[in-house]
Amino acid sequence: MANILCIGAGHVGGPTMAVIAKNCPQHRVVVVDINEAKIAAWQSDQLPIYEPGLDEVIRCARDRNLFFSTEVNRNIVEADIIFVSVNTPTKTFGQGAGKAADLQYWEKTARQILENSTSPKIVVEKSTLPVRTAQAMERILNSNDKGLHFDVVSNPEFLAEGTAIRDMEHPDRVLIGARETPSGQRAIQVIVDIYAQWVPRERIITTNLWSGELSKLAANAFLAQRISSINAISALCEKTEADVAEVAHAIGTDSRIGPRFLRASVGFGGSCFKKDILNLVYLCECYSLYEVAAYWEQVVKMNEYQEARFVSNMVSAMFNTIAGKRITLFGAAFKAHTGDTRESPALAVCRALLEERAKVIITDPYALDNARADLGDAAGQVVFEPDPYVAAKDAHAIAILTEWPHFAELDYRAIQESMVKPAFIFDGRNILDHEKLHAMGFNVYVIGKPPLTHFSNGSHIER
Ligand code: NAD
Ligand code: UGA
Repeated sequence: MANILCIGAGHVGGPTMAVIAKNCPQHRVVVVDINEAKIAAWQSDQLPIYEPGLDEVIRCARDRNLFFSTEVNRNIVEADIIFVSVNTPTKTFGQGAGKAADLQYWEKTARQILENSTSPKIVVEKSTLPVRTAQAMERILNSNDKGLHFDVVSNPEFLAEGTAIRDMEHPDRVLIGARETPSGQRAIQVIVDIYAQWVPRERIITTNLWSGELSKLAANAFLAQRISSINAISALCEKTEADVAEVAHAIGTDSRIGPRFLRASVGFGGSCFKKDILNLVYLCECYSLYEVAAYWEQVVKMNEYQEARFVSNMVSAMFNTIAGKRITLFGAAFKAHTGDTRESPALAVCRALLEERAKVIITDPYALDNARADLGDAAGQVVFEPDPYVAAKDAHAIAILTEWPHFAELDYRAIQESMVKPAFIFDGRNILDHEKLHAMGFNVYVIGKPPLTHFSNGSHIER
């Protein structure tokens, strides 16, 4: 039996530890956080995050071998293995502001582990970190005069929100990096043995420490790059009457390219893609690899362009003015099946529409509270309405910003009848039946496809 501790009970710490506890009943797993409200929520029936399947896993393990607590110091004393899953946001101040990772929470945790340890431990980097962070951690932890040795292991997390439990239960791979020393290799084996309880051994990849750290940043950069690539092509499709869904299918059937992550959209969101790419850009700049930095930075710039392009297409389609018009946003979450609104394109679009003095109404099944909080001062100018039919009533336009499946199943005839005419729909996720909507009377604008309108001013294609 091992005492496993996880510091940080967020989107990663909570679900990952719940899955470990469920699959390793012989181990005791404690998840701690400084945020008391969050820990209280993990102990209750109203979990702090929405994630399909999470309730069942929590119900299975909580109070059996899974515990949530705010007592960080006491739990450090008892732990054999400590996963650190604190947030590593983009730095907003000083050197590297706007790009580098802010490691203050991570370093504070390392010092807290050092202060409270009375036995050697394995410290696992679960947070996403710049490559070679482990070296700094080793230096802090092994600077002690208690004669204690700490092994630092990199075990980055690849789960995606909305599918976190499935991704954890059936991962494509688990990655574990450590020093190539006897002690590092013993530590790697301890972590391998935990995952091997439910993950086939051939899916557990072991690497050196730096490859472990860098692979996480590289994986997110490659995933985001695919979205920016297809979004770049979507802009050209709109100018040429090519259809981006057909292009994505045509290129995705090449087995060397593959079909996934080629859905053109209003842009990628989420707490990590932008922050991790900017972190990668900063690292490259620090090593004077300016061309490499510029290459990856373009992925983020293309995403910002796509969001801005979506809004300017809305304005120009609606006769170059949206001031005073009611615009209903279907979706606030950065993707379906999550309540998370961090870096959500929906909120970027909302802010841009408010700047144009539109009246914005947002509907979403799970993300309205987070949207209200994330919009800050701007939230006062927005109406938050859980019922999409009520939200769309008297609107001039609807914009689909999150691909919630039920948005495709609404009664759009009834919605169209309740709207101001001419009624517009802007599908930022390509999830609706556009021909059908057009036949109902909507003017339909889609990412990467020619618009379907009822205006008689000829083709929208400019050559
Ligand atoms: P989060 O903000 O949801 O959770 C982090 C938690 O750490 C917060 O609850 C915070 O209160 C807590 N914390 C901060 N300092 C602490 C301290 N000193 N002691 C105790 N608790 C402390 O963040 P997250 O989304 O879970 O991400 C955590 C890390 O995992 C980040 O590095 C992120 O890049 C990475 N990651 C996130 C995802 C994802 O889908 N969200 C996926 C893979 C990797
Ligand atoms: C992403 C990665 O997929 C995870 O592997 C990684 O662990 C995680 O980041 C992280 O490090 O935080 P996540 O951000 O939760 O996971 O969600 P994704 O499914 O990757 O979607 C990210 C964004 O891209 C969403 O806004 C989504 O709508 C958008 N997207 C995705 C597209 O616009 N098109 C696509 O084809 C796919």
